[in-house]
Amino acid sequence: MIQIAVLGYGTVGSGVVEVINTNHESINKKAGEEINIKYVLDLKEFPGDPVQEKIVHDYEIIANDPEVRIIVEVMGGIEPAYTFVKRALESGKSVCTSNKELVAKHGVELLEIAKRNNINFLFEASCGGGIPIIRPLNSSLTADEIDEITGILNGTTNYILTKMATDGSSFEEVLKDAQEKGYAERNPEADVEGYDACRKIAILSSLAFGRHVDFEDIYTEGITKITAEDIKYAKVLGASIKLLATSRKVGDQFYAMVCPVMIDSSNPLYSVNNVFNAIFVHGNVLGDAMFYGSGAGKLPTASAVVADVVDAAKHLNRNIMMNWSSKKLHLIDISQVRQRYFVRMKGSLTGDFDNKVEAVFGHVDVVGVPSISNEFGFITEEMTEQEYHEKASQLDGIIHMIRARLG
Ligand code: HSE
Repeated sequence: MIQIAVLGYGTVGSGVVEVINTNHESINKKAGEEINIKYVLDLKEFPGDPVQEKIVHDYEIIANDPEVRIIVEVMGGIEPAYTFVKRALESGKSVCTSNKELVAKHGVELLEIAKRNNINFLFEASCGGGIPIIRPLNSSLTADEIDEITGILNGTTNYILTKMATDGSSFEEVLKDAQEKGYAERNPEADVEGYDACRKIAILSSLAFGRHVDFEDIYTEGITKITAEDIKYAKVLGASIKLLATSRKVGDQFYAMVCPVMIDSSNPLYSVNNVFNAIFVHGNVLGDAMFYGSGAGKLPTASAVVADVVDAAKHLNRNIMMNWSSKKLHLIDISQVRQRYFVRMKGSLTGDFDNKVEAVFGHVDVVGVPSISNEFGFITEEMTEQEYHEKASQLDGIIHMIRARLG
């Protein structure tokens, strides 16, 4: 029997207990041994819940119990998760976590400790919830040189953008509704400002490129400035606006960014809606692949955590190698990234467009929305962000720019 402990009995922690109880037999078969939850660490009591008999409030009990071989960390946040996880790994206990903040900030160090101690630090649930993506990157796509990962990695913002597109409502209205329904956090900052997606793409990029991508180096812009008008333009263009987290290798340089992007139906991420997540991967021999599914929520996330527990149980005294070196990957500044831009500008389509826009930007595709007056939109040719900003500074009346991957 393999004894495990779960740190945190919140949404994901209670999901882990539920998954292990529900699929006990098949999980044990796949692990090759019975998996038993010996302790659940939480500050609260849970009277009436069978978990109560396993509840402990003191981490020392778990840390000092040599029977516990695997620890599930689903508390979230950096502290005390980091201290607990580091101590567990140093004392020879494997750790499975869903904590993307912890993995993005301390993953490289924790992997190193696990390797030294011949045990495992696994984090499938940290990116894309229940979608298998860490294991595919680490074990399945090893024949490839990966040159792009682009994901819709945050369910909350994808839900908000989908609702804005279907209902025509404003960002604020949809956010309020999503909070009332419990889809969005009371404090939605990490989601709507793109910080959550930023940590997830940092983790995926580190694994895909084999060198440490520091989340603090990634240009990050959220969806708070996206308006109902932007969505109307997107519709006229047959496009949708998605919060994309991208990392790419161009030549021998790398860049990474998180921002809203206008994409059309030629992009496989176009029809990823509501709370679903998807991760597009391009490899030099594979070509395109996409991973799609439930990116958040109690049971999908717990499913990925428990799959890691099974893997850790199968490799109790053997480290599963992960290609994530401590050597930092240098990212170029996004001013050097080339793409197209959708721009909204005050004025009339004829006079202002002919006289100003074409003179500065050269050829652009123009777009108007019948219900929006006194402004128009245009899409530039491909250019670097620096070139875009130099040109845009020569024009008065630009309302807003959204990066575009169209056609
Ligand atoms: N807040 C995250 C999301 C949860 O909305 O995707 C999963 O990491």
